[in-house]
Amino acid sequence: MLRSGRRLSAGGCLLLISGCSGLQSSLDPQGDGARWIADLFWPFLTISVIVWTLVMLALGWSLLHRRAPRPDPLQTDTTNEKRALIVIGSATGFTLAILAVLTTLSFFTGKSLAELGAHAPLTIQVIGHQWWWEVRYQDASPSRIVTTANEIHIPVGEPVRLLLQADDVIHSFWVPVLNGKRDLIPGRQTTLTIEADRVGIYRGQCAEFCGLQHAHMGLFVIAQPRADFDAWRNNETAPAKTPTDPVAQRGQVVFAARGCALCHTVRGTSAGGNYGPDLTHVASRRSIAAATLPMTSAGLSAWIADPQAIKPGSHMPKVDLHGRELTALLTYLEGLK
Ligand code: CUA
Repeated sequence: MLRSGRRLSAGGCLLLISGCSGLQSSLDPQGDGARWIADLFWPFLTISVIVWTLVMLALGWSLLHRRAPRPDPLQTDTTNEKRALIVIGSATGFTLAILAVLTTLSFFTGKSLAELGAHAPLTIQVIGHQWWWEVRYQDASPSRIVTTANEIHIPVGEPVRLLLQADDVIHSFWVPVLNGKRDLIPGRQTTLTIEADRVGIYRGQCAEFCGLQHAHMGLFVIAQPRADFDAWRNNETAPAKTPTDPVAQRGQVVFAARGCALCHTVRGTSAGGNYGPDLTHVASRRSIAAATLPMTSAGLSAWIADPQAIKPGSHMPKVDLHGRELTALLTYLEGLK
């Protein structure tokens, strides 16, 4: 799945043209919100194509049937003026009727979208940062609040309410197969409800230019059966496992000593930075750096060794680590499942 996601970011345009389906296409809806928007798109497109064709035909016809200029422009031609009045009058009426139909369709779609998820049992806060997504699962009990990044797990077939906000600049949350886009505005909270019909992994993307790495601000929505979702959430709620392997233990020391802990939290340890993503269960995620690299040893290693080579301008600095330090750090992080 991730492989196809990366292919999509690389050859996005080609894919958009070659087929309107896949894990990031609004024309391949996998949930109610996206389906209603697609249902609105098709009549809009059909009517627009018909109107455009008629206008072009009328233009062509009028060019072919041009009349010679009248010898005396002040002389009235009642027959032709009457005909012109009828044609223009009907075209105006036709235009108003089309506008009324499209506005009505639009209104009902908007109404359904606004009512979607009014009773959603699960609420997730999504915060846009340059250039990653913070994801916090809300709960009445503070010990059940889970923080993760760039990945939203949801139970399939249930509406999920997202509370969206931004930390720095305006971002836009868009998972095309699940619902329309919604801007994330600093200092303001907006909401959006997503619901997936089928189990699957869907890709999302920041849809508002937000700086240098805007294109590398992807995310995945993982829709899973209720039982799997609960198991995932229970695992996420737990603090990080204490490493037993000596190399991983050395890695934990490197993590604390070389500055990682200043920006990242690993719950259950002294690492409590909150500038970058929470890494308590980082190895259980599918990607790193907001869907830029797959979560593999090679990906993680490349990212830690030189984040600026992969995402220039990102807030993750390059830390000069010796080979053994890097190996230990990797072993430690890969154990955070
Ligand atoms: Cu965030 Cu574009």
